[in-house]
Amino acid sequence: MRDLLIGQVLSFDDDPFLEGPSAARIEAEGAVLIEDGRILAVGPAASLRAAHPEARRHDYGKALISPGFVDAHAHYPQTGIIASWGKRLIDWLNTYTFPEESRFADPAHARLAAETCLDLMLAHGTTSVCSFCTIHPESVDAFFTAAQARGMRVMAGKTCMDRNAPDNLRDTAQAAYDQSKALLERWHGVDRLGYVITPRFAPTSTPDQLAALGALWAEHPEVAMQTHLSEQKEEILWVAKLFPEARDYLDVYERFGLLGARGLYGHAIHLEPRERDRLREVGAALVHCPTSNAFIGSGLFDMAGLKAGGQRIGLATDIGGGSSFSMLRTMAAAYDIAQLNGAALHPAQLWWLATAGSAGALGLGERIGRIAPGYEADLTVLDLASTPAIAQRAARAEDLWQALFPTIMMGDDRAILATWVNGKPMHRA
Ligand code: GUN
Ligand code: ZN
Repeated sequence: MRDLLIGQVLSFDDDPFLEGPSAARIEAEGAVLIEDGRILAVGPAASLRAAHPEARRHDYGKALISPGFVDAHAHYPQTGIIASWGKRLIDWLNTYTFPEESRFADPAHARLAAETCLDLMLAHGTTSVCSFCTIHPESVDAFFTAAQARGMRVMAGKTCMDRNAPDNLRDTAQAAYDQSKALLERWHGVDRLGYVITPRFAPTSTPDQLAALGALWAEHPEVAMQTHLSEQKEEILWVAKLFPEARDYLDVYERFGLLGARGLYGHAIHLEPRERDRLREVGAALVHCPTSNAFIGSGLFDMAGLKAGGQRIGLATDIGGGSSFSMLRTMAAAYDIAQLNGAALHPAQLWWLATAGSAGALGLGERIGRIAPGYEADLTVLDLASTPAIAQRAARAEDLWQALFPTIMMGDDRAILATWVNGKPMHRA
């Protein structure tokens, strides 16, 4: 059975940071034809209707049909502690995060958190996420099982730590290697699931553990590796003390084989010029987590400067350091942070970051993040007048970008009319 989704279709053929807003493909009265989880065609509604009278029609009127949002960095186990008050990174980890993560030894707790997190993401229009799990292999099984049941393309990995964490949240270098390898072999490439080698960050791993995970990555270059980099100044000083031989924070990862083109480095706010050059040279991806950076008080990511240098960048909520499940709220926070840095991001740039940009950062740019024939049918349908405040502003819009920007700045899950995953409606307003 074929489905024909009718509405205003927005997708990107190119990166608007390089090509400007014309990188967007807009079909004002458009339609998307899907079958068996794939996009078959996109074009004017009138011609697709005429060519495919047999297709089941879903007429969304003036609503926007977008690629589903791609959240490039989140911690599903922190769903239950989102919006916890009053701490900076290290205290926040010790006070809220580690006690909650220790509960994931219980598979029932892990299953409930995974289901809650993914259902919240779908309700916010997010169809793919790259998540950290906890030290417990069961937490990875729970997440992949929940994503598989929803047909979602997700990436995730066991978060490895063998120092500077509570007793019940530490493994060893060998256990991190063995368990990560077993999980990778069990899950990577099954349905739409991808394994990610996941050392939490330099301070919570011994040199032996970083080396073991670097070795695993060398044996499996087909998978991604995710971690955190230069989020807060106190953290950077701590890393310098723990690894005095390293030139800088990034160099710690490089020394242990944890720097590469499939590497995903969350936050990356306080980078040295050498680190910026090296990240670009290697083709690694940075992941900007703006609500988290404001909420935990981390600092201002240099989006405009890094993009101008050719850096690959994705966008993410960083649940539960981040304060919202919404990629709309996340785009708004990215806009605010760029403004504080003296740069105004265009709505096309923000939307690209939340879709094709994040997909590309995750190494999934050929499969998701765009509405084009052959792409997987992950789509989000948005009401661009979802609240009275947004509606009255959008009514004055003279083009799509002006119509979109109030939803970027003021929108949330009320804007999400439907979320299609792998060609199936998985959420309806
Ligand atoms: N650095 C190491 N672990 C974490 C985490 O869970 N959240 C954030 N925001 N930063 C981290
Ligand atoms: Zn994180």
